[in-house]
Amino acid sequence: MVLVLYPVSFLWIPMTWECDHKNNGFVCGTPISRSWGQYSPYFPVPSEVDPDIPPGCKPTFVQVLSRHGARAPTLGKAKYYASLIDRIHKQTVDYGKDVKFLRTYTYSLGAEQLTPFGQHQMFNSGWRFYERYRSLASQSVPFVRAGGQARVVQSAQKFTEGYHSLLSCHHLGGDDTLPEYPYEIVVIPETPTTNNTLHHSLCPAFENGTYSAVGTSAQAAYLPTFAPRITARLNSRLPGANLTDADTIALMDLCPFETVSQSSTGTTLSPFCNLFTHAEWQSYDYYQSLGKWYGFGPGNPLGPTQGVGFVNELIARLTRSPVRDGTSTNRTLDADERTFPLNRTLYADFSHDNDMMTVLGALRVYESVGMLDNSTRTGPEKNGGYSASWAVPFAARVYVEKMSCRGGNEEMVRVLVNDRVIPLRGCGANNWGMCTLSRFVDSMAFARGNGRWDSCFA
Ligand SMILES: *[C@@H]1O[C@H](CO)[C@@H](O)[C@H](O)[C@H]1NC(C)=O
Ligand SMILES: *[C@@H]1O[C@H](CO)[C@@H](O)[C@H](O)[C@H]1NC(C)=O
Ligand SMILES: *[C@@H]1O[C@H](CO)[C@@H](O)[C@H](O)[C@H]1NC(C)=O
Ligand SMILES: *[C@@H]1O[C@H](CO)[C@@H](O)[C@H](O)[C@H]1NC(C)=O
Ligand SMILES: *[C@@H]1O[C@H](CO)[C@@H](O)[C@H](O)[C@H]1NC(C)=O
Ligand SMILES: *[C@@H]1O[C@H](CO)[C@@H](O)[C@H](O)[C@H]1NC(C)=O
Repeated sequence: MVLVLYPVSFLWIPMTWECDHKNNGFVCGTPISRSWGQYSPYFPVPSEVDPDIPPGCKPTFVQVLSRHGARAPTLGKAKYYASLIDRIHKQTVDYGKDVKFLRTYTYSLGAEQLTPFGQHQMFNSGWRFYERYRSLASQSVPFVRAGGQARVVQSAQKFTEGYHSLLSCHHLGGDDTLPEYPYEIVVIPETPTTNNTLHHSLCPAFENGTYSAVGTSAQAAYLPTFAPRITARLNSRLPGANLTDADTIALMDLCPFETVSQSSTGTTLSPFCNLFTHAEWQSYDYYQSLGKWYGFGPGNPLGPTQGVGFVNELIARLTRSPVRDGTSTNRTLDADERTFPLNRTLYADFSHDNDMMTVLGALRVYESVGMLDNSTRTGPEKNGGYSASWAVPFAARVYVEKMSCRGGNEEMVRVLVNDRVIPLRGCGANNWGMCTLSRFVDSMAFARGNGRWDSCFA
């Protein structure tokens, strides 16, 4: 292999090196690429508890819940960015320091679709899942479900591709036992009236009512604490542009979006990234973290309730017993062993950041974090390990592991969020952060009681 020495790095890096690494996630542009909120590309989050399988234990079951890989901006944002750039071009009389590239910049990222880089992330995620859980993965393929949006389905496909490529390697010479590819994927539509545990939509008070703007209000309260200074600086470099704080956030968004739109081997950060300091990126990360926390997570009185259906399905899978849920599960799908088998050891579900936030809430993952303060910037370390970039980056993955451990007479359960072990709450977790299956199930009383689903219709 040809090696190139990058001058600023202490690492020898092979020519085939890519920004997204199978084991280390996104390794370019650190530390700022880890402060892009939900637009950060996945990286392994520091863990106080060793994320390796604990000594003396072996996995008997794994559920992965994954966000899709990196994508283009959503349609609404794409329109905003395009018109903002248009306005800058029409009004700006001079392009100052660091912003000269804007004169000829055109918005051309498209909308909604998974980028080639995002596909690559998902391939790597599947590859790594196989590697990590090889003892189970060499015995059977995962049972796969995906929300119906194209980028989610495609993410599921790419994950299985990565998984299957490593599986095929290990089967070299023994093709008779190789599972058929492509694997089946149960696709659940994301329409407003579909019962889909991988996508919220059914709860009126959450979708359109009292609790639909909690996230955007929290962001609106925080924005004036950090953005005006940046806006003033940008306006001084772009006389005539007359940018608002919302425009500043949009220009910041373009840093991750431009970066992840490059080829899967792209190694350069977008010029938008250099317009802002590290401290400003931390403020941006917190701004995005507030939106997810109060919009979909524990900060929203009905956020975790939207994740209850998935958690009740998880309990069914962990205990191999029928689903009991009064929220968003589809009873038809979940009663059919073709669409909801209970005898598998590996399950892989694909979804969105918002839905993952609701599930993490229902799972009590961030119970130690408390409410976020809308007026103070704090990093994930201070927030008990929560930030949007640590929780739901592009290609985020939550692993729920069940293990049998030497000397124990009951199986153990553990949860990892992007490789960070989150010690379970309310079930007597041991030093490895894990609880017995029965105590874990007991601790899921919120989900088993359908959360606050009744309040959806109050
Ligand atoms: C439940 O799933 C079945 C089978 O896929 C589907 O026909 C039906 O429309 C779904 N119902 C709801 C309310 O989502
Ligand atoms: C929320 O409002 C949208 C747009 O009016 C509508 O399509 C959707 O059905 C509503 N959702 C709920 C759960 O009430
Ligand atoms: C943050 O803002 C949200 C929405 O405005 C509000 O409900 C919440 O109480 C605020 N939290 C704090 C700690 O100020
Ligand atoms: C600048 O923007 C503000 C608010 O968006 C607007 O009220 C004002 O008229 C604009 N000024 C110019 C010179 O375009
Ligand atoms: C869909 O969810 C609603 C709300 O809980 C429930 O009343 C309905 O029976 C569910 N439909 C199916 C097909 O499971
Ligand atoms: C699960 O059960 C189904 C139906 O009984 C059976 O066809 C399948 O082989 C079983 N799968 C595993 C992994 O045991």
